[in-house]
Amino acid sequence: MSFFRIEGGNRLKGSIRISGSKNSSLALMVGAALGEEDVILTNFPQDLDAVVLAEILREVGVKVEEQAPGKVLINGSGLRMKAIPYELARKLRGSFYVAGLMLARLKAAEIPLPGGCFLGPRPVDFHIKGFQALGAEVNIEHGLMKAKMGTPVENRFFINRSSVGATVNLMYLASLTPGVFTLENAAKEPEIVDLAVLLNSMGARIRGAGTEVIRIQGVKRLQGAEHPIIPDRIEAGTYMIAVAATGGDVILENVMSDHLRTPIMKLRETGTLVEEGETTIRVAAQGPLMSTDLETAPYPGFATDLQQPFGVLMSIAEGTSIIRETIFDNRFRYLDELTRMGADVRVDRDRAIIKGVPTLSGAPVETTDLRAGAALVIAGLAAEGVTLVSGAEVIDRGYERMVEKLRKAGANIERLRDVENCQEVV
Ligand code: UD1
Repeated sequence: MSFFRIEGGNRLKGSIRISGSKNSSLALMVGAALGEEDVILTNFPQDLDAVVLAEILREVGVKVEEQAPGKVLINGSGLRMKAIPYELARKLRGSFYVAGLMLARLKAAEIPLPGGCFLGPRPVDFHIKGFQALGAEVNIEHGLMKAKMGTPVENRFFINRSSVGATVNLMYLASLTPGVFTLENAAKEPEIVDLAVLLNSMGARIRGAGTEVIRIQGVKRLQGAEHPIIPDRIEAGTYMIAVAATGGDVILENVMSDHLRTPIMKLRETGTLVEEGETTIRVAAQGPLMSTDLETAPYPGFATDLQQPFGVLMSIAEGTSIIRETIFDNRFRYLDELTRMGADVRVDRDRAIIKGVPTLSGAPVETTDLRAGAALVIAGLAAEGVTLVSGAEVIDRGYERMVEKLRKAGANIERLRDVENCQEVV
């Protein structure tokens, strides 16, 4: 097990370059395999989730080859029916994207159901109902979803609740299913738009991505393309919050501020200066941090993935903040760890009431999930003394070279690997 050891108190300064979007890269990697020709994805992030998904895709015959740092070639011509080991599938909920890929290309699929995770149950019922609307016969047996394509039964599907994963999977399947299919109440996240841009450049006919209604005209086959992945808005938001929490002044490079409207608005409400350039954002602390309330919501609302980092910021802001989590249960578990660092927090069902304290104090804390880990790193950067954040591998799942990026911006952070006494620096 690895740790991050952080000596808090340094203000972040200079610049941080943002990587390609982790969530986009997962959806695009699988989407690229819908064709049978080479697809090149650039601005590809090097995080662990992408590595695991690449392993899963290779299991089912898809070629995934890193041609240069940030440049990945995908070729789906070798795709074949093969059971994905549960041990591999359970590591990553995105593994369920392979269901849509297989159904679209091979007209059959056999995929382990992803199961729950630290965020509580994460069902795939919308994906399955959508597959059925598009003509799949689905059976659930022994933890597996077995499905076979018949003829489409509906020409539209209303997703009960905005779901990124279900929208992605249904875009895959509809792109290679004859007829016109309408997805209603589709997710509007920038990653959905990124996927539509890639698939359209491969010859798909998708209209309306980024709105609630996506219309897809099925085509026979998709061809090769080259596509740059959008910058990671969650990574950018995490570092923006880290800068504000440490009283720093940093320019983020390779960002799209349009994807960060709500986090920018919320940061400004805390009194932090946010200056938007064309592909940069400057974040600079100005005077004391003020508290503000927050409610997570599907895009363009405040991303649930930034709720935990923002909660840390509120723990050292002046006043009391109420944070409401509407997307996932169990996304407040990081607050127990934060309390051990001196935060004043009370959780009441889907609400956290956070009363700002003047300062946090470093402590050993445990990462419960990816974004909680990033939040605890921010807490460590802002705290007095030394913080040991366990579970660095969990944070690696979504953040490329976090230690390197933060050190370059002046943070005193290093990775340690030693379960007993955390002394070996790696
Ligand atoms: C994606 C993101 C994740 C982000 C989340 C919400 C990826 C790889 N992950 O996850 O970082 O936190 O969007 O923005 O892109 N739901 C159902 N049934 C379903 C599907 C979803 O009830 O079949 C519920 C979920 O439990 C959750 C909500 O719908 O409460 C939204 O989930 P969804 O958007 O599907 O999340 P993911 O795609 O898994």
